[in-house]
Amino acid sequence: MLRKLAISTIAAATLTLSSGMAIAAGGGGHVTDYTFPFEGPFGRFDQAQLQRGLQVYTQVCAACHGLQYVPIRTLSDEGGLGYSEEEVRAYIDQNFIEVYDAELQDWRPATPNDNFPVNDGAGAPDLSLMAKGRAGFHGPYGLGLNQLFRGIGGPEYIASVLTHYTGEELEQYGAFLYGNETFEGGWIAMAPPLYEGAVEYSDGTPATEEQMAVDVAAFLTWTAEPHLMARKQMGFTAIIILGILSVLLYLTNKRLWAPVKSRAKGEQPAE
Ligand code: HEC
Repeated sequence: MLRKLAISTIAAATLTLSSGMAIAAGGGGHVTDYTFPFEGPFGRFDQAQLQRGLQVYTQVCAACHGLQYVPIRTLSDEGGLGYSEEEVRAYIDQNFIEVYDAELQDWRPATPNDNFPVNDGAGAPDLSLMAKGRAGFHGPYGLGLNQLFRGIGGPEYIASVLTHYTGEELEQYGAFLYGNETFEGGWIAMAPPLYEGAVEYSDGTPATEEQMAVDVAAFLTWTAEPHLMARKQMGFTAIIILGILSVLLYLTNKRLWAPVKSRAKGEQPAE
């Protein structure tokens, strides 16, 4: 009985999942399901990938986008990019990172205790929490099953926006819009920021458009959720403990009700 129930539940879930995928592919807002090493219950950040993502952010995206909620010193956090404190200082110096000091009323070189600069000059949104602020996957039928199995899809959305330009341009009231298969409405005000070789990775990874998009999306997942690995570990421990607890409760329940059940069947209580 239990086995039958389990099999039919799994079958139903698989069916809904696959039909959901078909729907997502057919509608607008195309999102490619890129693979990231931090997915799944045992997912972990890939340190080298986060470092490459920071390089892409610094050399390309920072021209228009800020990261104002991310303290620069967290680049040396364990479980993240894992730089040493000297490397963080070198990063600030080499990239001439400056922040606006309200007291001085002027720009000054950043220190590790500052946050990354605010940048709203180009009308571009801050990217600190973007990976949590966008959902790549939906449905089916508002059930959220796609998100249950594949995640919310924030990083997939970011990587997709960067790689799904159609190449069309549209001038509207003197401003340019660029055709994009992922962005809602199909036209985005961000010119395609990535092209093959836009950065030269210090670890030698070939800088294809897709590689840079996925790396920077991974980095932005870290900025939005720096303690993802600790959270997953805690969740896993909790599930094991709750699992053991459920078995114990089931056995206790059986034992407590055994006399009552056998009496109901007209047998003598087994004592
Ligand atoms: C030349 C300036 C410029 C550069 C460089 C740039 N962006 Fe943008 N970006 C924009 C603007 C402007 C918008 C707002 C677009 C809109 O709302 O139509 C935007 C929007 C976005 C969005 C939000 C899309 C949404 O759903 O609202 C993301 C994500 C994004 N950019 C990521 C990046 C990443 C990652 C990089 C670096 C690889 C980058 N951008 C480089 C100007 C830029």
